[in-house]
Amino acid sequence: MTSPLLAVEHLAIGIPGGEGTVALVEDVSFTVRAGEAYGIVGESGCGKSTTIRAIIRLLAGRAGITSGSIRFDGQDLARADEATLRPLRGAGIGMIFQDPLTALNPVLTVGRQITEGLRYHGTVPSRERRARMQEVMRLVGLPDPARIAASYPHELSGGQRQRAAIAIALVCSPRLLLADEPTTALDVTIQAQILKLLSDLRHRLGMALILVTHDLGVVAQTCDRVAVMYSGRIVEEAPIARIFAAPRHPYTVALLNSIPRGTRAHHPLHPIAGMPPDPAERPRGCSFAPRCPNMQPACERAFPGWTAAAGGGGFACYHPAPGQAEASPDG
Ligand SMILES: Nc1ncnc2c1ncn2[C@@H]1O[C@H](COP(=O)(O)OP(=O)(O)O)[C@@H](O)[C@H]1O
Ligand SMILES: [Mg+2]
Repeated sequence: MTSPLLAVEHLAIGIPGGEGTVALVEDVSFTVRAGEAYGIVGESGCGKSTTIRAIIRLLAGRAGITSGSIRFDGQDLARADEATLRPLRGAGIGMIFQDPLTALNPVLTVGRQITEGLRYHGTVPSRERRARMQEVMRLVGLPDPARIAASYPHELSGGQRQRAAIAIALVCSPRLLLADEPTTALDVTIQAQILKLLSDLRHRLGMALILVTHDLGVVAQTCDRVAVMYSGRIVEEAPIARIFAAPRHPYTVALLNSIPRGTRAHHPLHPIAGMPPDPAERPRGCSFAPRCPNMQPACERAFPGWTAAAGGGGFACYHPAPGQAEASPDG
């Protein structure tokens, strides 16, 4: 088997606090193969953005990597210096940030922002930049490239702005695209178009994708495998079909039950009773225990170890839902 394009191992991210470091993300490990689409799903505040921002080392505020490694194409990005990271951002790894409205610069034309990466990395000669800009605008389905290139972000619709943000991320042909809630701000119809666009682009360009979302329906349409994050950890990982057919972690089950049946693909998640804990106030043991229907006294003593699941992936739970083979035929 070929080595993965990205291998995150035992990643921990923290912020210095009054009583020592507060862990935002703990012991996160996953791999993404070239061309693969990997989903990261979980409620707001579970550490999804923190995890993917760490990959390109753009953590906000005082947050920093405290341990673990992030191997991309043989290099450990967790320890890389700025000189190593600079050429990788954009050209090796592209990023679509959570809020496209704030991600775009309001005082620069869309064309200027799309070509910025080409200027920065100097990979395309200046006389070819315009052609490359138009090519990538066509690729993301922006009509009338000349007019839109001369426009400012506020002159575009929400869907066009998101396509522009994708064009900016793609202009240097990254091998891995990180997309943080790329459709959350959009209405349902546009959301479906953008997801289809991301899938098409991935196949056409042979690019790997990490898609972060709070919506399992979004992952279902787009990803090959999915990690479910809760309170700064991956609590379950599975091939996409298994997560819907036989979720093992009670949190995954709760996420699935919170999507109305029949219309799963198009509904945002309805919150599960209670909230994920604040990173500074995580309970001992399994942090889902206070909200978990399967909770037993042992759950509150230590975080459960990882159990591999049949068919790939696994879960961290003492009292998981039954697997496919164990489930009763009518259950
Ligand atoms: N730079 C930071 N400083 C302090 N707390 C942070 C920082 N970044 C994220 N957090 C906290 O870490 C937790 C996870 O945040 P985030 O990764 O944005 O979650 P998600 O993307 O899953 O909604 C939240 O409780 C958030 O408040
Ligand atoms: Mg986020």
